[in-house]
Amino acid sequence: MALIAVVCAVIGTVTTVALRSHLYDQLDGQLDEVASRVSGPGPPGDPQGGGDKGPRRMDLDAFVTRGPQPRRTIVADVRDGVVIDAKYGRDSDESTDLSGMTAISLGAEQRAALAAVPRDGGAHTTGIPGLGDYRVEYRAGANGSYYAAVPTSGVTTTVNTLVLVEASVTAAGLVAASLAGTVIVGVATRPLRRVAATATRVSELPLHAGEVNLDERVPESECDPHTEVGRVGAALNRMLNHVHGALHARQESETRVRRFVADASHELRTPLASISGYAELTRRGGELVGPDTRHALGRIESEAGRMTLLVEDLLLLARLDAGRPLEFGRTDLVPLVVDTVSDARAAGLDHNWRLDLPDEPALVSADTARLQQVLVNLLGNARNHTPPGTTVTARVRTVGAWLCVDVEDNGQGIPAELLPHVFERFARGDSARSRTTGSTGLGLAIVQAVATAHGGGVTVGSVPGRTVFTLRLPALSEQESAPSRSQAQHSLTTRVRQES
Ligand SMILES: Nc1ncnc2c1ncn2[C@@H]1O[C@H](COP(=O)(O)OP(=O)(O)OP(=O)(O)O)[C@@H](O)[C@H]1O
Ligand SMILES: [Mg+2]
Repeated sequence: MALIAVVCAVIGTVTTVALRSHLYDQLDGQLDEVASRVSGPGPPGDPQGGGDKGPRRMDLDAFVTRGPQPRRTIVADVRDGVVIDAKYGRDSDESTDLSGMTAISLGAEQRAALAAVPRDGGAHTTGIPGLGDYRVEYRAGANGSYYAAVPTSGVTTTVNTLVLVEASVTAAGLVAASLAGTVIVGVATRPLRRVAATATRVSELPLHAGEVNLDERVPESECDPHTEVGRVGAALNRMLNHVHGALHARQESETRVRRFVADASHELRTPLASISGYAELTRRGGELVGPDTRHALGRIESEAGRMTLLVEDLLLLARLDAGRPLEFGRTDLVPLVVDTVSDARAAGLDHNWRLDLPDEPALVSADTARLQQVLVNLLGNARNHTPPGTTVTARVRTVGAWLCVDVEDNGQGIPAELLPHVFERFARGDSARSRTTGSTGLGLAIVQAVATAHGGGVTVGSVPGRTVFTLRLPALSEQESAPSRSQAQHSLTTRVRQES
C-alpha cells in the first residue's frame, strides 16, 4: 500500500509539473504573439515600422475586443515609463461589438500592479487585483511600449482538474489494492498459519517431565516440498518426530532408573531387617561379649536403623515418582497437626512448641499417613536444624480455596546458598552433613513430592530468625464435607487440643 501510494504520488507530481510547464510554455507563446501584435514589428523609430513619424499608437479597445487575442487579454500603453491606459476585453450582452466583447479600463490599483512587472521583455506571473493571476510581458516596438498580459486561469483550471483526477484515481487504487492485498495475503499465508498453529500447540504441551504424548503434526496438505511453507512444515514434522523419539527415550530411561531404585530399596528392606534383628538378638543374648563387640553391635544396629529409614524414603519417593495412587480420604488437618506436634514435643523438650489452629475443622482429601509423614519431616527439621530454646509454631489457616499448614521457627534460618535447592534430593546444609544422627537430605524432597501428589505444593521463606515452610492443599468444599462427620471430628479435635 505504501509503495503504491509513493509510486502514485511520484507519477502524479511528475505529470503535473510536466503538464504545467508545457501549458505555461504554450501560454508564453500566446503572450509573445499578443505582445508582438500590440507593439508592432521593430523597436520605436524603426524605419520598417512607424517610420519617422514616431510610433503609431494602437487602439486598445479594438485590440482587446477583436482579433485572435485570448479572452480577457490585458494590454497597457506605456508612455515615458508610465502606464497611461490599460484595457481588457470582457464578454458583454449589451455590447455593440460584433465579437460580443466590451473593452474595460483597468483601475489605478490594477495598473500599478502591471507597472510593477520588470520591463525586461520576459514573461512574469503576477496577480492583478480583481482579475486573478496573469502572465505579463513588457514589449517595446514600432507601435510604442506596451504591457501585454494573458490570464493563467485556463492553465490553473487544467492543472487542478488533473490533480483532482490523479488524487481520485490514487485513492480508488489504494482501496482496491488494500482489499485485494488482504484477500491475497490471507489466502497465501493460510498454510503458514496452519504450521504456526501446530508449533503453538506443541509449545503449550508440558514436555518437561513424565510420559509425553507428542502427537501434534503439521497436516500432510501443508508439507508439499515444492513450496517454501511446505518445506517448513515438513522440517517441523521431522523435528517433532525426533523430539518425540528423544522424549520417549528419556521417559524409558527414567522409568528404568525409577524401577531400579524401587526394586533395590524393596530388596534391601529384608536384609536390613535381618541385620538389625540379628544384631539386637546377639546384643540381648546371654552370651558374654567384650565391651568392644557390644559397642560394635550397637553401631551395627543404629546404622542399620538409619539405612532402613533411608531405604524407606527412597522407596516412597520412587513410588511417588511412578505416580502410584495414594489412598485418599477425608482428613481433618487440625487433629493431625495436634498429634504430630505432640510427638515432636515429646522428642524435643528443649524447644518451645506452639499451635495456632482454627475453630472449624480443616478438611482436605488426602492420604493421612503420607500427610503425617510430611508434618513429621517439617517439624523434625525445625527441631533438628535449630538450636535448643527455639520456638516452633504450627499453624493451620484457610487461604481462598486452599488450606495451608505453616511450620515456622525462629532459628538461624536456612543458608542462602542452600535455599533455592532445599527441596532437591540429598540437599543438605553443612550442619546436617556433619551431624552424626542420620540426616539424608530426602525429608523435604518427600514433602514436596507428597504435596504435589495431593494437587498442592510447598514453599519456603527463610531469613535468620524466621523460617516458614508452608504446605498448601486444596480444601474440601462445603458440599463434600458431610456435617455429621465434621461435627464428630471437631469434638475429637477439641478434646485432643485440650489434652495437648
Ligand atoms: N527449619 C529449618 N531451619 C534451618 N535449616 C533447615 C530447616 N529445615 C531444613 N533445613 C536445611 O535444609 C536441609 C534439607 O532438609 P531435609 O529435610 O531435606 O534434609 P535433612 O533434614 O538434612 O535430612 P532428612 O530429613 O532426610 O533426615 C537440611 O539439611 C537443613 O540444612
Ligand atoms: Mg529433614
